Formats: sequence, structure tokens, C-alpha cells
Amino acid sequence: MPDLLSGKAAVVTGASSGNGRAIARTFAEHGADVVVADIQEEPRLGGTPTHELIVEETSSEASFVNCDVTSNDDLRAAVKQADEYGGIDVMVNNAGVFAHNEDLFSVTESDYRKMMDINSKGAYFGSQFAAEKMQETGGGNIINLSSINGDVGTKSNVAYCASKGAVRVMTYAMADALGPDIRVNAIHPGMIQTAQIVKDYEHLEEEKRQERLDTIPLERQGRPEEIAKAALFLASDLASYVNASSLVVDGGVKNTR
Ligand SMILES: NC(=O)c1ccc[n+]([C@@H]2O[C@H](COP(=O)([O-])OP(=O)(O)OC[C@H]3O[C@@H](n4cnc5c(N)ncnc54)[C@H](O)[C@@H]3O)[C@@H](O)[C@H]2O)c1
Repeated sequence: MPDLLSGKAAVVTGASSGNGRAIARTFAEHGADVVVADIQEEPRLGGTPTHELIVEETSSEASFVNCDVTSNDDLRAAVKQADEYGGIDVMVNNAGVFAHNEDLFSVTESDYRKMMDINSKGAYFGSQFAAEKMQETGGGNIINLSSINGDVGTKSNVAYCASKGAVRVMTYAMADALGPDIRVNAIHPGMIQTAQIVKDYEHLEEEKRQERLDTIPLERQGRPEEIAKAALFLASDLASYVNASSLVVDGGVKNTR
């Protein structure tokens, strides 16, 4: 099934690194032209910028747009950039930030606002602008990156849980608002080997890391490519009757703890 997204145009926020980068590359391998919308071109773990890699490795087109998802003007511009490829068919609201060991009492108003602005508000308006365009052109689909922390509350990151819980329920509400021509679904990753884990987790002592790994029935962290395969399924016609749904990709943590 090499061309599940043939002729489609996708915008992926936060696609310079991690899950977004894998999603953008997988979509391009399956025929989609991709707009990489991020605050930086360089992948957080190094390597060739995503849009350049796509052009090198696939026959799809790709471009980078400087987009901070907290800015509605930037989000509008990212959606517009897909006009170069015939207009947006798939929007992936992936850009997000995490906070480790975020104690309930130490979170300031500005910490909270930042978390909500990027993780929740970015997904809301990314969806709104994409959906406006999709309604003009006959439809499409939207994928929002939530987290297992959008389902399960943990004391070590309360504000992050708030931001990702909002993404989960807004996904359901948007699906209700945008049917029948636009599907909206969420992906809930567990612990995936991206900069959010590899880099931002560096301070976690070995014992704590092992403790977290021990909660995963598959006994390993996930790979960004495994999130990308879930996104490919949701973006394609394989998921034509999947809507307002939460796809959990976590090696089994959420339902076994
Ligand atoms: N890695 C995990 O274990 C994990 C688990 C659950 C959910 N997620 C979610 O997956 C998504 C991607 O995370 P990741 O692990 O790939 O992280 P990452 O840090 O590897 O990549 C995030 C990308 O988002 C970009 N970004 C950050 N702020 C932005 C902004 N304001 N506007 C535009 N782009 C911005 C960064 O530049 C980076 O390229 C996030 O929504 C995250 O919450 C990740």
C-alpha cells in the first residue's frame, strides 16, 4: 500500500522533530505533499531538516514554514501554504511541549498559559483554520496529538494533563461540529523516543527511568515511526468510518497500570 495518501496535501505542525517528523515522512512516502510547520527547521535530535529529507527520499513535495502554533497568523499561513499542493486535505496538530516533574504547586500562571497555548489552543485554531479551508474544498481530516496523559491524570505533570485532556475532548466536539465531510481523531502516545524523552528526560535518574519502563507491557519505549503508522491509518481511507476516536499507541500502559 505505497500510496494511501496519493494526491493529498498535509500540514503537520511540529514536524521538524520527533513524532511530527516521522508523520511527515510517512505521509510523503505514501504520496502526500507536506507542509512542515515548526518554530525551527533543525530537528531537535539533529539531522537533515524534514522537508529537505522528504524531497531527497520521496517523489512528494515538501516545504518548511516558520510557524509558532501560539500565533493564529502563523497557523493561517501554514494552512495557506498547502494551496501550493492543491489545498489542505489533512491537518496534524502535533506541536507540543512536555514538562517533567511538574509539581502541582510550583506551576505558575505563565507556565500554565504556555502549556495551554501550545498544546491546546494551537490544536484548536489549527483545526479551525484547516476546517474552514476543507469545507470550501469538499472535506478532509484532522488528527490531534493528545497523550495517555489526556486520559489518565498523573501527579508529576498536572498542567500537561490539563492541556492534553482538552485536546481529547475538543477532538470529539470538533468531529460532531464538522461531520459529515471532515473526520477528526486523536492519537494518544505513551512514552515515545523523541527529544521530549531522550533530551528533556536526561535529568531523570536511571532508577526512575526503569520504573517507568516497567509499567509498559511491551517493555520498551515506542518509536516515532509507530506513531506515524497510526497517523497514516487515521489520515487515509483505511479509517473512513473512524471518527471522534482516540487511538492509544502506548505499548499497553494505560489500561494495565
Ligand atoms: N514523546 C512522547 O513520549 C510523547 C508522549 C505523548 C504525547 N506526545 C506528543 O507528541 C507531540 C510531538 O512531541 P515529540 O515527542 O515529537 O516532541 P519533540 O520535542 O521531539 O518535537 C516537538 C516539535 O514541536 C516543535 N514546537 C515546539 N513548540 C512549538 C510551537 N509553539 N509551534 C510550533 N512548533 C513547536 C519543536 O520545535 C519540535 O520540532 C506533542 O504534542 C507531544 O505532547 C509525545
